[in-house]
Amino acid sequence: MSIIDPSAFRRFEHKGWQDIASRYHEGFANVTTQSVAALLDAARVGKSTRVLDVACGPGYAAAAAAARGATAIGVDFSSEMVEEARGRYPGIEFREGDAEQLAFSNSSFDALVLNFGMLHLARPEQALVEAYRVLFPGGRVAFTVWDAPDKTIGFGIVLSAIQKYGDLNVAIPPGPPFFRFSDAEESRRVLAAAGFVDVAVSRVPQTWHLPSPETLFDVMYNGSVRNAALLRAQKPRVLEAIRLEIRQMVAQRGNELPMPAILASAEKST
Ligand SMILES: C[S@@+](CC[C@H](N)C(=O)[O-])C[C@H]1O[C@@H](n2cnc3c(N)ncnc32)[C@H](O)[C@@H]1O
Repeated sequence: MSIIDPSAFRRFEHKGWQDIASRYHEGFANVTTQSVAALLDAARVGKSTRVLDVACGPGYAAAAAAARGATAIGVDFSSEMVEEARGRYPGIEFREGDAEQLAFSNSSFDALVLNFGMLHLARPEQALVEAYRVLFPGGRVAFTVWDAPDKTIGFGIVLSAIQKYGDLNVAIPPGPPFFRFSDAEESRRVLAAAGFVDVAVSRVPQTWHLPSPETLFDVMYNGSVRNAALLRAQKPRVLEAIRLEIRQMVAQRGNELPMPAILASAEKST
């Protein structure tokens, strides 16, 4: 197993998100927005809730919270993503900031959500320590991550194509496993370790509506970070074989791919 250097992994993720911020919405929004309502329900976001959307990306969860009458702030460590969010939702406050070191006082929020953020963090446990600190007693945290690749078929197809024609062990800065929190027990464990109680984990069905069989490769190659790096590290002839395999597998399955999320939530004890 590779040794994780959290600073190196953070730099790799940060550069990746800066580079793709303007393309993320086109590729992933139609899936990652599908779990937002369940995420906000799990964090009990309603009228007047003070909510922090961490690793907010283009700001979908913050915007949906504001639409419920909550007071929402979004935080992301990518200045480019923050600009995307501000452009998309001008009435909402978005700030540049790190999930692992939040620039807010203790007990500032009733709810804190991370929509598909946890799996990109170098030190996700530290992000939960920070979530606990900035929540009021009785406040709720909720996060979504992708389910395992045998259930999230888009990832399953890409990873099996790389395994068939290429190399899954290319040199990219090692980070916590991408599917670590797909394991409900692991999600429960980290929340409890951070001090949270009343932990709940469930699965949210989501479907990726792909406009064409080519889209899956294009989105992964141009609109993601770790999976893009995995693809870009393959030799050109291998990459072409992977691209064709992905296209064929999507063509066989159809353009509607199951992409369920795991939703974990918990409470800061009173
Ligand atoms: C998969 S996107 C999720 C975006 C959005 N929440 C959504 O619902 O689609 C992951 C986001 O996490 C952000 N991110 C990664 N590491 C971070 C960190 N340490 N602190 C804050 N944001 C981070 C990235 O910049 C990116 O915008």
